[in-house]
Amino acid sequence: MSENIESVLTEKRVFEPSEETARAARIKQADLDAMYGKAESDHAGFWADLARSELHWQKAFSEVLDDSEAPFFRWFADGELNVSENCIDRHLEDRGDKPAIVFEGEEGDTATYTFRDVHREVCLFANALKAKGVEMGDRVVIYMPMIPQAVFAMQACARIGAIHSVVFGGFSADALRDRINDCEAKAVITADGGTRGGKVQPTKKGVDDAIAGGCKTVSTVFVYQRAGNEVNMTDGRDVWWHEAVADQPAECEPARIPAEHPLYLLYTSGSTGKPKGIQHSTAGYLLNAVVTCKWVFDLRDDDVFWCTADVGWVTGHTYVAFGPMACGVTQVMYEGAPTIPDGGRIWRLTQNHGVTVFYTAPTAIRALMKLGDDFPNSCDLSKLRILGTVGEPINPEAWMWYYQVIGGERCPIVDTWWQTETGAHMISPLPGVTPLKPGSCTRPLPGIAADVVDEEGHSITEPDQGGYLVIKKPWPSMLRTIWGDPQRYKDTYWPKFDGKYYLAGDSARKDADGYFWIMGRIDDVVNVSGHRLGTMEVESALVAHEQVAEAAVVGIPHEVKGEGIFAFVVLKGERPEGGYDEKLVKELIQWVGKQIGPIAKPEDIRFADNLPKTRSGKIMRRLLRNVAQGKEVEGDTSTLENPAIIEQLQGRS
Ligand code: WT7
Repeated sequence: MSENIESVLTEKRVFEPSEETARAARIKQADLDAMYGKAESDHAGFWADLARSELHWQKAFSEVLDDSEAPFFRWFADGELNVSENCIDRHLEDRGDKPAIVFEGEEGDTATYTFRDVHREVCLFANALKAKGVEMGDRVVIYMPMIPQAVFAMQACARIGAIHSVVFGGFSADALRDRINDCEAKAVITADGGTRGGKVQPTKKGVDDAIAGGCKTVSTVFVYQRAGNEVNMTDGRDVWWHEAVADQPAECEPARIPAEHPLYLLYTSGSTGKPKGIQHSTAGYLLNAVVTCKWVFDLRDDDVFWCTADVGWVTGHTYVAFGPMACGVTQVMYEGAPTIPDGGRIWRLTQNHGVTVFYTAPTAIRALMKLGDDFPNSCDLSKLRILGTVGEPINPEAWMWYYQVIGGERCPIVDTWWQTETGAHMISPLPGVTPLKPGSCTRPLPGIAADVVDEEGHSITEPDQGGYLVIKKPWPSMLRTIWGDPQRYKDTYWPKFDGKYYLAGDSARKDADGYFWIMGRIDDVVNVSGHRLGTMEVESALVAHEQVAEAAVVGIPHEVKGEGIFAFVVLKGERPEGGYDEKLVKELIQWVGKQIGPIAKPEDIRFADNLPKTRSGKIMRRLLRNVAQGKEVEGDTSTLENPAIIEQLQGRS
């Protein structure tokens, strides 16, 4: 057992769903028990039943799960369906005039698209793609701001069977070029620019720079006019969106797409090496997107859903572009920074659009929490009924703030654990059923065989012993492969346990109630005197201190202990002069010692204005390890949101 990852944090609070929530929720305790029972006794059959009832098929499937070439699993493979038809056409009769997307720009401009409007926009653009020779199976890169047309572009690709790959609009031209070339995209869809933080981000220029560096496969660049900034149009290659759709018919038959045909690729940066093109399927992916929207967000016809994620991340795929659309709900979309013109923007948007279900990331919650309670308190947030989080473990401090100040102690928080690779929620509370514990993503969803195992792959039955988070059975929305690199797919996700379990790369523990607690990435584990500690728990303890806003810890070599803990801390107030404050460092070290125990005491602490994060808000601990060890920063930094922070951390500014 000593090899296992030790848990040092205990959180004892439990929040039961209110009677009202329990009564109103779609899935009740008895339903959940029945679902677990069915999934347990007939895993494939459980998913097959859902696939039949939740999706609209053009051709019914007869095969359910094909595992003959594991770990290359296939689901519902002989069926045919169209994702765009499932998301749009099937609502036209009952909900044609219902708003599908309510959009607000940073400057306050708004636009509403009904399902009928979306149908029209998607058909027009799908026809424009076809007119430029884009066919089933071709790859199309989408590099756009967070505007409805990004969703239309994704849906249009899905409609004709083109495989889209969204590249986050904030990524550099180099990052864009790598991705275009890796998937050999035939077309790129972009906008002149988008607005964020009061500035125009020139996305079209990014595409020009990317292609100038060599992208031989791209024959067409579609440009949506959004920001009105000046752009260069290359003759024969570039075409304005509005011109491309001008002569197109407003109807486009949804193509018959085989269930296993790739719906999209989404590049995710590995900790080393080049980005991986995570390949998702058509039917299986959509199935989990739909059922998790219903189970976890309990989405209903009268809900107004707002997921703040950009379409550049998987969250913006599953819970903006596909899941909510397939469920026929109204959703809010916002282009712009969360604090423009001030820290109340998000809460005013929530109030003004009557948001009922709100989904965001812990990093955003902490950032908003830092701005104080006055902003949310001055808004009417009473329509909210469910709050969600995703992306990293939410520290109990932030959880409590979200629960009390935003949710008025009325809204359950669904802490959803999943990954780009899993396609949809895997471990999460259900709002009307699951008692909540701040910081825990609670229990696996029905049909998701998640577990925590030791080095040999044995299930860890002793409570609170950390180990590897694995998924023991295939599930419909799992990634199918890494585009163009099946070997890397096998090596990355199936390297241990005889290739039988999907390795998530996270460490986790289960408590005595079977609740899952994510402890961090396996690569980030720090080994102090033979005790393997997940980074998350130490960080959470630091953040519980009243002066600390954010924290990241990494291992540094230590003569006696093997590894020691080094912490980077962002304070709620000003950064101390020169990034150091001896008194506060001592105080925080003692604090962690008291919260967790002497074993977890940091050796030293540095203060910074910010932490190096990816654009999706993940702390790049790899860079911090270099800094803490006084080394030059190595490896890929192209996805870093705030490159200048490295200089500060190294004490150079
Ligand atoms: C990694 C996946 C899934 C969409 C956004 C991120 C961490 C994600 C949680 C959570 C603890 C979480 C894990 C996971 N993570 N959700 N609720 N609690 N950790 O997608 O970029 O593919 O990252 O994010 O470490 O492996 P991603």
